[in-house]
Amino acid sequence: MPATLLDGKLVAQRVVSGLRPRVEALKARGIQPRLAVVRVGDDPASQIYIRAKIRACEQAGVLGGELELAASAREADVLARLEELNADSAVHGVLVQLPMPKGIDPHRVAAHIDPDKDVDGLHAINLGRLLQGDARFRPCTPAGVLRLLDDYSIGLRGRHAVVVGRSEIVGKPMALLLLERDATVTVCHSKTADIAAVTRMAEVVVVAVGRPGMLKGDMIKPGAVVVDVGVNRLADGRLAGDAVWDDMCTRAGHVTPVPGGVGPMTVAMLIENTVQAAECAAAGASECPELGVRR
Ligand code: GUN
Repeated sequence: MPATLLDGKLVAQRVVSGLRPRVEALKARGIQPRLAVVRVGDDPASQIYIRAKIRACEQAGVLGGELELAASAREADVLARLEELNADSAVHGVLVQLPMPKGIDPHRVAAHIDPDKDVDGLHAINLGRLLQGDARFRPCTPAGVLRLLDDYSIGLRGRHAVVVGRSEIVGKPMALLLLERDATVTVCHSKTADIAAVTRMAEVVVVAVGRPGMLKGDMIKPGAVVVDVGVNRLADGRLAGDAVWDDMCTRAGHVTPVPGGVGPMTVAMLIENTVQAAECAAAGASECPELGVRR
């Protein structure tokens, strides 16, 4: 039987339009939720991703704005810009699009974002809270993967989930979120001796390595759920994930397409985090359980 498509585009549209009543409620109180996306340099893929984020903001009624810094910008310039955004009470969510030019330390940049506005969930405080099972803003891609699986009623409790890739933005937080859902989690990476032997045992495979064709049909158990986070531009201009699409269609039970799978879900989670940040800012720290009191 051919695999069932996990339609991230459709689910993301539903999530984003479902945010409208929350945005309207904020506006009725005189609060316009606002997201600021900082781009350093002119990476073409980043420009496309940011356009998608701003379009989704518009769909939800959130104000989305892009701030550009030249590729020659120094780290101090980025930090100064973040301080302005932190101080601006009209801005509820701040993210710096990755990758940034060489010479700018992404950890120092993330550390400079007000944790209450860190809608990417990449500040050490927010990652630490995630580790403690007390997340405030969940990193958008792994959160989007879970929301997509939830929408298709794919349970995780007690199931063996294998994450291929250990990046800070996807692989590591993905493993934590799967653990939070009581999955049994294995993480594979470039030094894993026999990745195929591990992925073949998995009921759920999340692949996020950025290498087209990496996950082949004989590397998965028949009927497995395959979530493909990779977005790779092929020589002929087409986009492809990390998994071999035709193989997955015939062997997997469920599979996410690229494009139209995880990408739109990442954007939807970003908008949801921004709305939550605005709600929490409006409520004040003492009243907002999502914000907590530990800063
Ligand atoms: N670049 C690719 N994906 C992301 C993301 O989710 N957040 C940020 N900040 N940069 C990215």
